[in-house]
Amino acid sequence: MDASNGSQDTEQTLDSQVKAFFDSAPPLQNRNDIIQKLNHFIQLNSLSSENGIGKRIVCVTSGGTTAPLEQRCVRYVDNFSSGHRGATSTEYLFLHLLLFLFLSMKLFLGYLFGDLLEGNEYYVAGYVECRYFLKAGYAVIFLYRRGSFQPFCRSLPDDPLLECFEATEGLNIQVREAYSKAVKTAIVDHHAAVDSGLLLKLPFSTIFEYLQMLQIISKPMKDIGPRAMFYLAAAVSDFYVPWKDMVEHKIQSGSHILDVKLVPVPKMLSVLRKDWAPLAFCISFKLETDSNILLNKARGALEKYNMHAVVANELSTRKEQVVVVTIDDKITVQRDKSKADDDVENPLIKLLSQRHSAYIEDPKRMR
Ligand code: PMT
Repeated sequence: MDASNGSQDTEQTLDSQVKAFFDSAPPLQNRNDIIQKLNHFIQLNSLSSENGIGKRIVCVTSGGTTAPLEQRCVRYVDNFSSGHRGATSTEYLFLHLLLFLFLSMKLFLGYLFGDLLEGNEYYVAGYVECRYFLKAGYAVIFLYRRGSFQPFCRSLPDDPLLECFEATEGLNIQVREAYSKAVKTAIVDHHAAVDSGLLLKLPFSTIFEYLQMLQIISKPMKDIGPRAMFYLAAAVSDFYVPWKDMVEHKIQSGSHILDVKLVPVPKMLSVLRKDWAPLAFCISFKLETDSNILLNKARGALEKYNMHAVVANELSTRKEQVVVVTIDDKITVQRDKSKADDDVENPLIKLLSQRHSAYIEDPKRMR
């Protein structure tokens, strides 16, 4: 068999695996509702790009998918991910935007009162900074595992309702002093993002829900072209039991061996790049526990799935440092340890949004 036949065969195999996956998946219960919300979100954020400085839209995936073992699921195989990476990254994607809103206000004030301020300095400074931060502003579709970390809520304790609040006289509830700042910031920032139409949160649990939702999201994202970004931090199941092969009821514990056949989940990264949203800027992640193989595996994923960048992280140091692997670079990104509350996602998002800017200006240059 010659090499071209080989790659055709591989493509056919992938296509048939993808078809088998979607054919066998239980349909999403709220599919129409998701499509409606998504279309509205994308339309809203595309409209605001009429001035020529288009808004970017990123799909951040976060948390681990489950692979159920029974149709009426009691048991499932899970994937490690707390959702911290996705939630924190989402906040930093917004941070640029919140700064932008602040600077817009400065610009507006400068425009109104500029003449009163000598030489229009306020206006000019606001305008320059504004254009800079507008470029970094993203609207975010947050595709997350139910129960995982949420943007703006990371500084709250594990059980926020019971730990942050206390009952006072009658029916009144008040925030405990120690948590008042954290609760206020979480509520204000979260509502600001959602109410201004810049954050759309869509939950999943199973691999079936996740991949169907990713496919649904990629349809309108395709129309945005290079301004779309996929930031795939979710830990996605590598194996699953096809729905039609799955037992309906709870597996009984009587036998000594659990005999379940799991098959590989088709690597949707290739499909996303090739068919679903070919012009979108795509970032995937590579997690390993052995640092000796990490960079080679990341490089392999970059080439195999034609990603624009792969973020390589090692389990034990993932909150301190990551390496961004691109076709011609390996950039180590570290948290600023001199600042207690800095996160590695801060410089990471800065770097990736700069790379995305370069890509928007010239998609061919970056691949
Ligand atoms: O959530 P935290 O606790 O903060 O941890 C963050 C993290 C370590 C989970 C995150 O930084 C990370 O590395 N996520 C990807 C982990 C992973 O499972 O890698 P993978 O080798 O299984 O998959 C590689 C990439 O392919 C991922 O971007 C994944 O989204 C994607 N994938 C995987 C399988 C599949 N069938 N389809 C896919 O698209």
